[in-house]
Amino acid sequence: MKIGFCSDHAGFDYKTRLIEALQQKGYETADFGTDSSASMDYPDVAHPLAEAVERGTVDCGIAMCGTGNGMAMTLNKHQGIRAGLAWNREIGELVRQHNNANVLVMPARFIAFEEVLVITSAWLDTPFEGGRHQKRIDKIPVRK
Ligand code: RB5
Repeated sequence: MKIGFCSDHAGFDYKTRLIEALQQKGYETADFGTDSSASMDYPDVAHPLAEAVERGTVDCGIAMCGTGNGMAMTLNKHQGIRAGLAWNREIGELVRQHNNANVLVMPARFIAFEEVLVITSAWLDTPFEGGRHQKRIDKIPVRK
């Protein structure tokens, strides 16, 4: 499985460490930036990650900024994206189980790195429940 990543300056350190941890577990990774802890604008990296997930260049994505909200707002502008914000293990499970999020978003300034690892594993390892949840996520895209 290939996972795409993006962060702004607030999430840069965690993103770098998470990529390394997931590579060690055997995941393929693609980093859409940012490349340093210098201040930058999260949409500049969130849009390229969203486009890669929509195109299928990567199977899913993980995004981090300070609160996670800027990333989630930007990613969810894309019709094919379900970006879900998670800040603990249970929400990491539920955002897969109920929402089948194809991008996991975490608030880097409000959780410890150990929690990032736990939430990511929960999201990656939990199956989507389908059924009534499939019907609900089918209704998310805006009809033209
Ligand atoms: C950066 O200071 C901060 O605004 C950003 O990381 C994020 O929290 C925005 O939603």
